[in-house]
Amino acid sequence: MRICDRSKCSGRRSQEKGRREILDSRHSVAGRAGVSICRMMETREMDRRKPNCLVALIVLLAAAVIGADAWKKDEFKRCDQTIFCKDARNRVDGSSNWFVSEVNVTNGKVRARLIEGGEGEHVGGSLILHLSAYEEGIIRLKVKEAEAKRKRFEVPEVVVKGLEDRRLWIQRVIEKDGASMVVLAGYEVVLLHRPFQLYVRSGKETLISLNAKGLFHFEQQREKKEGEDWDESFRSHTDSRPHGPQSIGFDVSFYGAEYVYGIPERATSLALKPTKGADIVSEPYRLFNSDIFEYLHDSVFGLYGAVPFMLSHSEKRTTGFFWLNAAEMLVDVMPKEKTETAEASRIDTHWITESGSFDVFFFIGPGPKDLIRQYTTVTGTSTMPQLFATAYHQCRWNYKDEADVAQVDAGFDEHDIPYDVLWLDIEHTDGKKYFTWDSVLFPNPKDMQDKIAAKGRKMVTIVDPHIKRDSNYYIHKEAQSKGFYIKDKHGRDYDGWCWPGSSSYLDMLDPEVRSWWADKFAYSSYQGSTPSLYIWNDMNEPSVFNGPEATMPRDNIHVGEVEHRDVHNAYGYYFHMASSEGLRKRADDNDRPFVLSRSFFAGTQRVGAIWTGDNTADWDHLKVSVPMLLTLGLTGITFTGADVGGFFGNPDPELLTRWYQLGAYYPFYRGHAHLDTKRREPWLFGEPYTSLIREAIHTRYALLPYFYTLFREANLNGLPLMRPIWMEYPKEIETYAMDDQFLLGSDLLVHGVYSERATSEDVYFPGSQMWFDVRSGASYSGGHTVKVPVIPESIPAYQRAGSIIPRKDRFRRSSFQMENDPYTLVVALNSSYEAQGELYLDDGKSYDFEKGAFIHRLFTFSKGRLTSVNLAPTEKGTKQFKTPCLVERIILLGLRPKDLSAHRVLIESSGAQVPAEVGAPLLRIGYHQANSLVVRMPNVRISDDWSIKVL
Ligand code: GLC
Repeated sequence: MRICDRSKCSGRRSQEKGRREILDSRHSVAGRAGVSICRMMETREMDRRKPNCLVALIVLLAAAVIGADAWKKDEFKRCDQTIFCKDARNRVDGSSNWFVSEVNVTNGKVRARLIEGGEGEHVGGSLILHLSAYEEGIIRLKVKEAEAKRKRFEVPEVVVKGLEDRRLWIQRVIEKDGASMVVLAGYEVVLLHRPFQLYVRSGKETLISLNAKGLFHFEQQREKKEGEDWDESFRSHTDSRPHGPQSIGFDVSFYGAEYVYGIPERATSLALKPTKGADIVSEPYRLFNSDIFEYLHDSVFGLYGAVPFMLSHSEKRTTGFFWLNAAEMLVDVMPKEKTETAEASRIDTHWITESGSFDVFFFIGPGPKDLIRQYTTVTGTSTMPQLFATAYHQCRWNYKDEADVAQVDAGFDEHDIPYDVLWLDIEHTDGKKYFTWDSVLFPNPKDMQDKIAAKGRKMVTIVDPHIKRDSNYYIHKEAQSKGFYIKDKHGRDYDGWCWPGSSSYLDMLDPEVRSWWADKFAYSSYQGSTPSLYIWNDMNEPSVFNGPEATMPRDNIHVGEVEHRDVHNAYGYYFHMASSEGLRKRADDNDRPFVLSRSFFAGTQRVGAIWTGDNTADWDHLKVSVPMLLTLGLTGITFTGADVGGFFGNPDPELLTRWYQLGAYYPFYRGHAHLDTKRREPWLFGEPYTSLIREAIHTRYALLPYFYTLFREANLNGLPLMRPIWMEYPKEIETYAMDDQFLLGSDLLVHGVYSERATSEDVYFPGSQMWFDVRSGASYSGGHTVKVPVIPESIPAYQRAGSIIPRKDRFRRSSFQMENDPYTLVVALNSSYEAQGELYLDDGKSYDFEKGAFIHRLFTFSKGRLTSVNLAPTEKGTKQFKTPCLVERIILLGLRPKDLSAHRVLIESSGAQVPAEVGAPLLRIGYHQANSLVVRMPNVRISDDWSIKVL
């Protein structure tokens, strides 16, 4: 074991410097202990405490003995360590004392005054409430101080610009029984006057409410009283809280709910467990973007991003609630309660934020897909990625130099493993100054990229938001002179520690700074960059190694005197947005940006991809990746993945293989590893692993047409690629808490293998139709859980009977080389011998699809005939997209025995006849499936209308 070999550690000092006082010995296996100790020492060096190595070792061993969590938890605030959270959590039901008066309709919105106090007496200030409604079942409620001492921060750039065009004009309110009621299409909103409560109802059914439990609390900004101290300290940091207490809290109840979901990001189950109630001792769910070192696989702890959006689901209804607020937020979920009026249950939740605005949205469903459409009507749908970005990415911290890059690239070719993108982590830079290259390790970055690009592949470099305070660094010089940095409470450029050491942070809230930053991606500015280079944004929570809770002080100041506390959760989003805008600006060829980000907020789906950060190479982290990605998808963020293989630690070959097999179905598919891990390119583990990983990656490439079609669906209507089973089968109660299996689109059912040497997995087959094993063609009927055998070659994956999945099965080196490859259509027939599927394609890179340059086909199998018709609007716009691609195979599954004899099929559109044969491999290395019929070389064009008589 290497313990504090100074020569080695010091090389890394700037990398992990100060990052880690937080050790979680659960994950500190012996192999990493030395590194961890070094990190601790570095941390302490930074703190100028410098313990010796022995002390560090004793501390580590002690931590291992006394239990792990202490290290990690101590670094971050518990609820009872912040006044606003502690107070809010201690509040009892019914303690709210607000009533409604002066209700009227102004400008198509309901306006009312909220007054604090009991019967007739007015004890506090007053608030103004605005209620508005939008098409599709969206209600917005804003509450503001009537006379604000200081304008509360309203998070810009999240709500889509066109939302106001969809506002319904409220004409009148009905006053009845001490309530004001607004009647809308299919539902009504009831504002109870005394006490102030809001209910959304549909007929007799209550869907969702605010303040039904009386926890509404609005700390109005005020002058400091004599002798009052607003400072709040945590560990060695003091938050001056110059504007005093300003928190907001309230309860939201979801009626009829079986479970609630959402509010990422954390590593935990999909269905959110209760955090408060009799016998439950838990912290609330925290939304406070944080760089958590070695996060646990099951914790309420908030990670790198935040989306304050929650959904509830039951057989009858899906409802949702979104709070547009980027300050620290805590959410308690109470156990499910029976209601008096309905046989259905209710889930109460309590939302608390430190500051910011009260600007909330209610969504009424009724189905899960309606709900996602409603939420993405407010925050936008996913951006359309380039095709290459949906393929496999190879990353590690770090590929050392240009020779290493060339070798890895060649290794993929030598081992016949496709990949599209090679990534460079922080070590490629000159001293962690982004937009620069280490001139010794990467002397010819353009040549390097061009060589990769010659094979149709791309590269990605990392660009983080901390800017090295080095007077010779052009980015720093400019940012400093233009005053573009976030300021500390004294008005100086904030100076914090991150990878480069002393750093300042760009004020990404400021549109001018974002625009300036975007210009830095121009080829003329980013020396050594080429059109095949894309970007990775990391540490944008922002991570500050020596800051409070490893981030920026809350009393730091952004443009417009906005405090960091108000912007915190959206900072990473603005940074991501500016980088993406940079790639958009640089592109003279209308190229779509690709920027991966670790931090995110509501709306991130419009910008780019995200990944789940620094996971660990163990089976638990493999498993939790599924609920983590499902949750992100439910909250609108669809282009997501987890580090394949696990970031920390060394996966054994079996775990790595299982991860590649599961990752093949993640929307974002990237292998990545920590600097201290062993190399793990897919061919390094020998057989059978190289072949198994090759097969997993190839499965992904074969499915790229299906993925791309799903990405377009997400782009059009916000639907996630990875879906919980209940999204497609909303009435199947047994699936509501299921998060070890998922649907990819509506047609593929996937179940990971989450343990060593597994020989079987329990798979639930939803619906009433059959499911076909994608390798063996074996069929399973819906509505059952089956213990299916598990083989090393693949994880359980099934195609839905009644679906048609487009694939490209030819083996290539990258997605680019598949461009003109022919398609395979896999037709899985249902019991009526019918099936349907879609294919979307465009040039895979530009925005021409927005001008109509795309192909969208509908394939239908009915009455023994497969047809293809155009789904694209006839008036498609000004541009066209053409492709020479043919269909080279049609595989039919689910046939009757009488259909299973070799015969010829008729291409009705051309009059040609081609042979069909029984039994063929389903995947390249799949089994010969006796029950399949394969039509070879029908050679119809994918873009044409055609009809093929098969049976
Ligand atoms: C962070 C990222 C990780 C990256 C490392 C170095 O830990 O999450 O993916 O490799 O920083 O840049």
